[in-house]
Amino acid sequence: MATPNPIDKLKEKRKLALEPSAPKRVEAQRAKGKLLARERLEILLDEGSFDEIDRFVTHRSSDFGLDKQRPLGDGVITGSGTIEGRPVFVFSQDFTVFGGSLAEGHARKICKIMDLALKTGAPVIGINDSGGARIQEGVVSLGGYADIFLRNTLCSGVIPQLSVVLGPCAGGAVYSPAITDFILMARGTSYMFVTGPNVVKTVTHEEIDFEGLGGADVHAQKSGIAHVVGDNDAQTLLLTRKLMSFIPQNNLSEVPARPCEDPVERQDDQLDSIVPHDSQKPYDIRDVISHIVDDGEFFETQPDHAGNIVVGFARLNGRGIGIVANQPAVLAGVLDIASSAKGARFVRFCDAFNIPLVVFEDVPGFLPGVEQEHGGIIKHGAKLLYAFCEATVPKVTVITRKAYGGAYDVMNSKHVRGDYNVAWPGAEIAVMGPKGAAEIIFRQEIAEAEDSAAATEKFAEEYRQKFADPYIAAAFGFLDDVIEPHETRPKLIRALELLRSKKDSNPPKKHGNIPL
Ligand code: HXC
Repeated sequence: MATPNPIDKLKEKRKLALEPSAPKRVEAQRAKGKLLARERLEILLDEGSFDEIDRFVTHRSSDFGLDKQRPLGDGVITGSGTIEGRPVFVFSQDFTVFGGSLAEGHARKICKIMDLALKTGAPVIGINDSGGARIQEGVVSLGGYADIFLRNTLCSGVIPQLSVVLGPCAGGAVYSPAITDFILMARGTSYMFVTGPNVVKTVTHEEIDFEGLGGADVHAQKSGIAHVVGDNDAQTLLLTRKLMSFIPQNNLSEVPARPCEDPVERQDDQLDSIVPHDSQKPYDIRDVISHIVDDGEFFETQPDHAGNIVVGFARLNGRGIGIVANQPAVLAGVLDIASSAKGARFVRFCDAFNIPLVVFEDVPGFLPGVEQEHGGIIKHGAKLLYAFCEATVPKVTVITRKAYGGAYDVMNSKHVRGDYNVAWPGAEIAVMGPKGAAEIIFRQEIAEAEDSAAATEKFAEEYRQKFADPYIAAAFGFLDDVIEPHETRPKLIRALELLRSKKDSNPPKKHGNIPL
């Protein structure tokens, strides 16, 4: 018998590795509106850039009939590629092979690319579509998950990690995406939960379906677990590419920059009239942002969760920035539990990856209420404070209107190492809102007044007159300048250019103890 040509053998094996799974599984995947694992990588990565590794890995189990099925790749495709020319490591779970379930070989493949990513300083993007631990392989599957969780944790803050959930992600499996920096989900086809609807029904007698328990919209709005949601696989993957365009390669590299067509000195007169004269009236802070940043382009993350704070990425003079902004159009921009946690996590991501922070501040304070107090607003609010305090990236703040109470300190004030703090001329900076202040300072006068409501209003107006401008704070040097709104873009760009060489650090420590 002739010895087979080794090159032909390789070609044959490669062909086999590329072959899709059984037609019925492929059809089932398509019937759900989902793409195949390789198709997803084609959309995510630059054309032709994908280099696969470990395509010949198979599982080593013989239990429960697994000896009769040893598909090449073991249910996950791994390797590297580029996004806008920058290297990334990727894995894409293949639901058509054992339901994308994770076991020893599958986990080893993911761990290998994570180790490579850490050593080379490149981001990891995981596409999750899996029925969880491969039931036939038992405890090795659990070990495999733990190996990944450990790497997720060790990579955290060193290389960016993104999870694109495009199918089931349930049980303990959720904890890998949960440790990563951003979770993207596709509406209608992806879901994440720790225990599924059946277990929920047994334990709590609540009846709910997959979508209602852990679908993309639930996590985008209620839990805040999903940072970005797309309408389908393809759109979610394109949004992943877009998000990546703002994110550096690792914690030692600079933010990606691109040529800027939008004039650096552009002064936008519309900014002068965006904030209403009546300080009780809302406006949309996103209008402010879009008039200032390059080409009005703002990539908002978690847009449907805790809308009273707005976070996301934009560029100024072609360089990426992270924006944190109070949103007067939602709950008057007040800080509460959800918005504090949302803001804190975003600030820490930016700080870990050298992304300068730009803060737009219009905050009446922290939200009062029994629910907030009992829910732990003290510790959640402290997260945002802690995050701004520890951040050493360039940090600039523009107070567009209100900066009241503890929230003034929290929102990247001068006192917590804000590098360039400015206010627009209509800014109000005080310990508390005028009405509340008047009711305390003039309690007796108001009680003795014939018309207490009118008296309150009169004293509140007095207080407002005293504090309804930024010049007291400026006199103390708590503000570096008071600027006209239309000057904001050039002023911020100049400040950030200066701050590019900023060096600051925190005392040496193992790690801090952020109030979790
Ligand atoms: C082995 C699995 C599997 C799993 C799915 N499959 N999940 N095989 N281990 N965990 C297989 C199915 O047997 C089927 O094989 C194929 O994948 C497609 O599955 P379907 O059920 O037909 O798909 P669908 O109807 O879309 O339902 C998807 C699903 C369901 C809801 C995810 O498959 C499911 O409930 N799977 C089990 C989920 C689970 O209990 N996982 C373990 C959780 S514990 P055939 O050959 O018929 O095509 C866990 C612990 C992690 O994950 C702990 C980490 C610390």
